[in-house]
Amino acid sequence: MIGVVAMNPAGCIGEAGRLPWHHPEDLQFFKRTTLGGTLVMGRVTWDSLPRRPLPGRDHVVLTRDPDAFREEGAVATTPEGLDAALAGLKRPVFVIGGAQIYDLLFDRIDEFLVTRVLDEAPNGDTFFSRPLAPAFRLVSTEVLSPACTVERWQR
Ligand SMILES: NC(=O)c1ccc[n+]([C@@H]2O[C@H](COP(=O)([O-])OP(=O)(O)OC[C@H]3O[C@@H](n4cnc5c(N)ncnc54)[C@H](OP(=O)(O)O)[C@@H]3O)[C@@H](O)[C@H]2O)c1
Repeated sequence: MIGVVAMNPAGCIGEAGRLPWHHPEDLQFFKRTTLGGTLVMGRVTWDSLPRRPLPGRDHVVLTRDPDAFREEGAVATTPEGLDAALAGLKRPVFVIGGAQIYDLLFDRIDEFLVTRVLDEAPNGDTFFSRPLAPAFRLVSTEVLSPACTVERWQR
């Protein structure tokens, strides 16, 4: 599984149920990276997608109550049902957040793609909670723009 996350220097990833910033170059990076694969996300992140499902990708939504999930375009499951839900879906599998789901699946993630954004987010309320090192090591960086640099971390 590949984790994909954008965070600022304080580790902030979200604010009031959405991204705290708007960087089209990072959204394009996300699209070209994940196209053709499966996105695993928490139910709050699914709700935050402006357009759902995202074209060209399969979607798995983690929720404690899959029976209550009524939306089309995603498979809803508990963590216990995740592997069964992923069987037959597109590869690779990307874990796209939010904070609860990075934490939940951290030990199963082989690689993280981390976009470092420079924005301050004074009202940010959701934070990436795990240090990447020493479990992961930084293997490359790619500058997307003056505001965004992608780091690739491998276990
Ligand atoms: N910067 C980034 O890269 C990035 C990426 C993704 C999201 N975000 C932001 O992060 C925020 C959302 O993150 P979040 O941490 O609040 O929510 P989240 O991780 O997206 O989703 C949380 C939900 O996942 C389900 N869940 C969590 N643990 C579970 C477990 N053990 N078993 C079953 N289901 C479980 C629950 O759904 P139910 O309530 O349905 O049970 C829970 O409410 C938003 O602001 C979003 O925009 C940022």
